[in-house]
Amino acid sequence: MNDVFIVEACRSAIGKRGKGLAGLKPADLLGAVQKGALDRSGIAPERIDQVVGGCVSQVGEQSFNIARVAWLSQGLPIEVAATTVDAQCGSSQQATSMGATMIAAGVEDIVMTCGVEMMSRVPLGSATKDASPMGESYAQHFQPTSQFTGAAMIAEEYGITRADTDQFGLESQTKAIEAWKEDRFAREIVGIEAPVLDGSFQPTGDFQSIDKDEGLRATTLEALQGLNAVPGQEIHTAGSSSQISDGAAAIIMASEKACQEFGLKPRAKIVATTLVGVDPVTMLKGPIPATRKVLARAGLSVEDIDIFEVNEAFASVVLGWQKDLNIDPSKVNVNGGAIALGHPTGSTGARLITTALHELERRKGKYALIAMCCGGGLGTGTIIERLD
Ligand SMILES: CC(C)(COP(=O)(O)OP(=O)(O)OC[C@H]1O[C@@H](n2cnc3c(N)ncnc32)[C@H](O)[C@@H]1OP(=O)(O)O)[C@@H](O)C(=O)NCCC(=O)NCCS
Repeated sequence: MNDVFIVEACRSAIGKRGKGLAGLKPADLLGAVQKGALDRSGIAPERIDQVVGGCVSQVGEQSFNIARVAWLSQGLPIEVAATTVDAQCGSSQQATSMGATMIAAGVEDIVMTCGVEMMSRVPLGSATKDASPMGESYAQHFQPTSQFTGAAMIAEEYGITRADTDQFGLESQTKAIEAWKEDRFAREIVGIEAPVLDGSFQPTGDFQSIDKDEGLRATTLEALQGLNAVPGQEIHTAGSSSQISDGAAAIIMASEKACQEFGLKPRAKIVATTLVGVDPVTMLKGPIPATRKVLARAGLSVEDIDIFEVNEAFASVVLGWQKDLNIDPSKVNVNGGAIALGHPTGSTGARLITTALHELERRKGKYALIAMCCGGGLGTGTIIERLD
């Protein structure tokens, strides 16, 4: 197999529902980030062999192969093809694994992977609103549940209490605020020009530059303790669940041959990737077997990893994973996670890889492991190794 190198990774700032990015069409947001990745890398667009994108709600404004529509919306070369995949919340992490596999197999030399979700415009659940793919035969095997129920089941299984999840919510916010104060995210962000909206969600004709995550909130434990639990459970609140957000991210990977030919600097190597299936009822336990499998594939152990980015879909997802694998919490989501920053679902996988790469570079670490839980019972895993 060929080595696969990350040569560029960037993302938009993450917009709060209905705020800074909400006036953009998903294709325009993703296209701006795809273009941003190309510009930063210096790679001519026609050198990209394929684009693989991820998106969860592939309906309406996010339908018709959004990764391709985004590319064409920027006037980029028609000869460069794109595919959009659906692995639910893990979509752009799985897109990145698939892109990496193309290079590893020698099928392609330079691949862009990316993801987008504009939950302000295409709300979670839009794709199944009018018709569910789960019929009687599915129900014979599994009772369809929601992610909220899955998160509560994990809390119960691992003895995670409301006090634990409130504390976790506070720490996510505190770490993200600190990271922004130290300007740790600035290098990974592509500024986006977005229409200013009025109170009725209509464009005013003005534009604003969005380059800072909008979900952060200075909060206290007392404030978090006072929040109502989300419907159907007693543990998680808005302060310990991922936020509804808008965002996009893009990564460019290349083979050694392409790095040499085009003078690209390999910033990190893709060491191993995985996608695992888990019980679709508990749904969100995927990061546990994904971490075990990707570590085994890499021949590494938990202790070898400098930093973990495990998506904060809900606090219990990360806390349960941490307990199960006996992970040092000081290495986990060191700059905060989706509770504070937001979780524009289809883009989060590529966003986490982007953030992990920049944090490894900042602290001169070696390995980062990225894992996500995904609706329907999947878990994504990626290990990257920073190169000097
Ligand atoms: C949890 C969830 C239902 C909350 O939605 P919401 O009620 O619209 O959330 P809001 O941001 O409006 O916050 C609700 C309230 O909590 C407050 N709040 C939120 N975070 C807070 C914090 N850290 N500190 C203090 N207050 C906070 C807000 O101010 C708001 O108060 P208000 O109603 O007085 O304005 C929603 O974020 C959600 O569905 N998250 C999960 C998304 C998901 O499933 N993604 C896929 C993962 S598998």
